[in-house]
Amino acid sequence: MTVAKRTWWKDGVVYQIYPASYKDSNGDGMGDIPGIISKLDYIKDLGIDIVWLSPMYDSPQHDMGYDISNYEAVYPPYGTVADMEILVESCHSRGMRLILDLVVNHTSDEHEWFKESRSSKDNPKRDWYIWRPAKYSTDGTRMPPNNWRSFFSGSAWEWDENTQEYYLHLFATQQPDLNWENEETRRAIHKSAMEFWLQKGVDGFRVDTVNMYSKGTEMPDAPIIDPGVFEQPAPGLFCNGPRMHEFLREMNTEVLSKYDTMTVGELPHTPDPKHVLRYVGSGDKQLDMVFQFDIVDLGGGKTHKYEYEGYQLSEMKAVVEKWQNFHHGSDGWTTAFCENHDQGRSVSRFANDAPEWRERSAKMLAMMLCATTGTLFVYQGQEIGMINAPKDWPIEDYKDIESINYYNSVAKRTNNDPKALAHVMKSIQILGRDHARLPMQWDSTPYAGFTSKKDGAWMRTHDLYKKINVESQVNDPTSVLSFWKKMLKVRKEYKDIFIHGVFEGFDMDKQDTFVFKKIFGKDSAIVALNFTDKEQVFNRPHVEGKLQLLVSNVEGIEGTEEKLMPYEGRIYLAQ
Ligand code: NOJ
Repeated sequence: MTVAKRTWWKDGVVYQIYPASYKDSNGDGMGDIPGIISKLDYIKDLGIDIVWLSPMYDSPQHDMGYDISNYEAVYPPYGTVADMEILVESCHSRGMRLILDLVVNHTSDEHEWFKESRSSKDNPKRDWYIWRPAKYSTDGTRMPPNNWRSFFSGSAWEWDENTQEYYLHLFATQQPDLNWENEETRRAIHKSAMEFWLQKGVDGFRVDTVNMYSKGTEMPDAPIIDPGVFEQPAPGLFCNGPRMHEFLREMNTEVLSKYDTMTVGELPHTPDPKHVLRYVGSGDKQLDMVFQFDIVDLGGGKTHKYEYEGYQLSEMKAVVEKWQNFHHGSDGWTTAFCENHDQGRSVSRFANDAPEWRERSAKMLAMMLCATTGTLFVYQGQEIGMINAPKDWPIEDYKDIESINYYNSVAKRTNNDPKALAHVMKSIQILGRDHARLPMQWDSTPYAGFTSKKDGAWMRTHDLYKKINVESQVNDPTSVLSFWKKMLKVRKEYKDIFIHGVFEGFDMDKQDTFVFKKIFGKDSAIVALNFTDKEQVFNRPHVEGKLQLLVSNVEGIEGTEEKLMPYEGRIYLAQ
């Protein structure tokens, strides 16, 4: 059996910061880099080793900075390159590392490269993006080169009047896809998006949409799964294309291998563990680890995620088990997460955000995550149990291009059918990306202490910020925040079992409790979690040796009874 090497990026806990919403230091309503620097002691005190900063690059912000107009500059409301240098140094001096988002499937349409590319068909950078001639239907109507739907609704192709061709954009119209087939383009990406920041001391990257750079050159039509509209979801055709592994290997050899970095790739639409192993096996020198999305995709609709269908606990348990164990016997590595800036809050999605249960269920989810193998990722606000926006917020309070475009497309397609729109709204209330983007709740002063701007932040503050905030939790030993700190310590104290152990699930068909064992050599732990608002009995798996209750999220529990209170979690240690 291959024995996986221990490294800083396996044992470290990562904390993701969304710069627009973390802390505004200058009262303009937007978060910024100096604001983040002012909170580094808080982050360190939580038990964090690695900070991941979502895009802070210059951008027209059609997709909150995932549309980059200059890799080597910072979005002015967030600060400057000099502020970033201070951030790198301030993380390092506290013994933490800093990784950035690497967004290189596409740029903004305001990037100089694209401006040149679209300026004429014979511009030297024309081939840096993906241009195709129109197709024509039998009645002479101009049609895009294929029927691919963009992630943000509508066609993935945009017509350019000036040069009379279409360009590809898998995301927003303002996010043209780079042409990775062109070697010069790849070199420019390495230099501008990667080397520039690595030379400033950043410790690696979270790599955006890491499996979409190679689309092949044929780009055939996608099968029709959503009849009645022309555009069809096509991830099966543009993810994991023929040269994907070659491009990542090259990125590793040419750039990453020269530094001590960590890389975590965003790997959607890749369900086969054997395929995922190709990306993360250290022998093939591609990525250190990936986010596989089964857990956060739970419940999403077949034709679109915002056609929510719901899920059963047994499905969640199955995907946890699958990705906990897929790398055993290889030198690959896995990740543990259930939130990020593209997801609804985990308490609202996977547990219960009603006032009587939200704290206990936030602690229960913390227990699940901290006991699971792989590098652990915590999203800002998760550590205080932030929850989704209230259900009475109208669509106008949502800002995200994905939600708004889909809502509008359904309105158009159904002629404002109230039933169809209500279903989309319900889905957005659960899965909407905006929930994670609400301002961080620091205290009970106006706008949750996020901004001093008189008329508030760029995004509406959660109505419950006076109840859920850092200040009210930081000195309370029974708070969600104190619990997270404790759990992160426990995870590190018993890291063989929790970070590196083998996962074994029990009673996997049960829809109310999640019971699993973590095993490392002769040591093991048992985790028992109740995912319902009712008392539940559970079968405690047999272990050799003495069983001792290590953590519980309910005060005064002895843990001898095989019965769990609503949302109760227990971790036992067998020694
Ligand atoms: C994935 C990012 O997480 C998401 O926020 C973004 O919209 C797309 N990639 C496009 O970059």
